[in-house]
Amino acid sequence: MERVSTGIDELDRKLSGGYPMNKVTLITGIAGSGKTIFGIHFLYRACLEGRKCMMIATEETPEDLLHQAEFLGRDLKPYYESGQFIIEKLFEERSEKIGSTRYGFKPESFDIELPTLIELVPEGIECLVIDNIGVFAIRIQARRFRDQFDGLSYLLRKKGCTTLFIMDEAAHNMTHQLAEYSVYGSIRLLVKENSYLGKMERYLNIPKMRSTAVSPEMSVFEITSDGIKVQGPGGGSLVE
Ligand SMILES: Nc1ncnc2c1ncn2[C@@H]1O[C@H](COP(=O)(O)OP(=O)(O)O)[C@@H](O)[C@H]1O
Ligand SMILES: [Mg+2]
Repeated sequence: MERVSTGIDELDRKLSGGYPMNKVTLITGIAGSGKTIFGIHFLYRACLEGRKCMMIATEETPEDLLHQAEFLGRDLKPYYESGQFIIEKLFEERSEKIGSTRYGFKPESFDIELPTLIELVPEGIECLVIDNIGVFAIRIQARRFRDQFDGLSYLLRKKGCTTLFIMDEAAHNMTHQLAEYSVYGSIRLLVKENSYLGKMERYLNIPKMRSTAVSPEMSVFEITSDGIKVQGPGGGSLVE
């Protein structure tokens, strides 16, 4: 199995080299748990390695994304400007629709067939992040959900994309966590209290990663101005 770097060295070690190439990995977690930042690490490393990258963004403007990336020491702007990295702004389209209706969010605005998202992805894209796919999921009837996810995953694999589906925890729970079954692997981000230290910490765990030996243990990580630091097996934070 070929791998594509996650952009986080210690996570690459945990995943035998990175995300499985040409497959879909799901990242879930509550708001603020670090999902978009995991996406940024993946895209930045892939850009550095010369791969063509794309983000389909439903929650942030390109300006916000580029700013957040730069703030983490991962400046995506040169790749965005050269066209090696493209951002599809579903966010702005959605905001315009919200602005255009008197009662706020217009329900049909995101009521699309999930597999049609493939039409947004140009030929040659190697690394793709869809953030947040949860906005589509909550409009799909439960019995169609698996088919829609499987359909999009199939089309993305056929196109040669290594993909991250980023999904907020609320949408994930609302869809009975069914996405777990469609994807090749999944990573869950949590923020919870460390009862020994009496303080909140960020954790990740890997409930599923096919063709990969992974530990069921949770790992602690931090978000710093130099990016994500995942604690190594020894417990100490590894400087990357
Ligand atoms: N340079 C930084 N140092 C420390 N924390 C940061 C930094 N940049 C962002 N964060 C934290 O990361 C969190 C947001 O991560 P994000 O990936 O946007 O979350 P999600 O996409 O899961 O909602 C926020 O809680 C924010 O405070
Ligand atoms: Mg986010």
